[in-house]
Amino acid sequence: MGHDFAPMKNDLIIRAAKGEKIERPPIWIMRQAGRYLPEYHEAKGGRDFFECCRDPEVASTITLQPVERFAGLLDAAIIFSDILVIPQALGMVVEMVDKKGPHFPQPLVSPEDGQYGDVMAKDLAAAVEELDYVYKAITLTRTKLQGRVPLIGFCGAPWTLLCYMVEGGGSKMFVHSKTWLYRYPDATKALLHKIAEVCVEYLARQVQAGAQLVQVFDSWAGELSPATFRDFAQPSLAYIAAQLPKRLAELGLERVPMILFPKGAWYALDACCDKATLGYDVVGLDWQHSPASAAATRGDRKVVLQGNADPGILYGTQESVIATVKDMVEGFEWKERQSGWIVNLGHGITPFVKPESLKFFLEEIHRQTKL
Ligand code: CP3
Repeated sequence: MGHDFAPMKNDLIIRAAKGEKIERPPIWIMRQAGRYLPEYHEAKGGRDFFECCRDPEVASTITLQPVERFAGLLDAAIIFSDILVIPQALGMVVEMVDKKGPHFPQPLVSPEDGQYGDVMAKDLAAAVEELDYVYKAITLTRTKLQGRVPLIGFCGAPWTLLCYMVEGGGSKMFVHSKTWLYRYPDATKALLHKIAEVCVEYLARQVQAGAQLVQVFDSWAGELSPATFRDFAQPSLAYIAAQLPKRLAELGLERVPMILFPKGAWYALDACCDKATLGYDVVGLDWQHSPASAAATRGDRKVVLQGNADPGILYGTQESVIATVKDMVEGFEWKERQSGWIVNLGHGITPFVKPESLKFFLEEIHRQTKL
């Protein structure tokens, strides 16, 4: 099924993600649609978080909010949803507890746990079909965007989703994730592969619905060691990067740029920049990298870097924002290269930021990157 969307008025991020020379670096912000915006709370009303994700009208309204508030300053929209919709589609119950975050009443305990068997046996096509509301929200959002900016689709990375599925929520100690990793390595690898298969099909369906780039969020990559990243996370991430283009070709769709955000995995940056090893077009950086050292690790490889200001600068003074932007503009060698950089924060914007503080950051990027 083909869609007849309006022509793009701004395709900067697509050109940048392909490594092309561009007139200014594109900007988007992780979690740009969310609780720091008063209009988010208004649109959400009394609804539960996942109820909003499942309602294409509400999800598309929330997706558009930052694009409208910061018109001319943002170069992409990201569909309003959550990485935890995949565990839900695999049959697990996930609740969003107000002010506390996600909660799985019944996490996966061990490979002997009947629920592990159920997840592993879940029919792929059925799981992906359960996320039909996401595809509907994407198509509606593309229509409402009218070509203003491209729309990013996303999924959680297998390792990060496995952490949530065995921890039952966020974690500080990762006791269960590490137990799985080091006690049940084969069952862990099998589960990671199962999730990766869902990710490929889920992302392909998002592209079919209208997503123009995709990002894989590996928010807990920093919990791994170089060896466990290589043996556990990397194969499933490489599988997604290799299979998605094939799946898109089968569906008669063009390949879209793929972004990997391996948060905390500074030790794996060199591998992530290697197209033969991981295969992503863009690598998202957290703020534990200095822009200059990340750019040096990338070297003259064509991969694009995305990031990476500490989201905490948005609590600070304008002077500290100006200094951080300067560090990025110089470190990513914007003026010299005029390519290879997509601006973002090093992680999601937090609920405590004033929208005007984000606006100043966006304007400062525009100011300092003028050629
Ligand atoms: O604007 C956007 O970026 C699109 C929407 C989006 C959300 N979650 C909305 C959301 C995206 C891309 C995500 C991804 C996501 N979800 C990640 C990866 C990014 C990251 O932060 O590392 C993770 C780990 C999750 C899981 C998750 N969802 C957590 C840990 C929480 C609670 C804590 C928190 O930071 O909010 C959520 C809830 C969530 N996801 C909210 C939003 C707007 C808040 C829900 C509310 O309104 O109460």
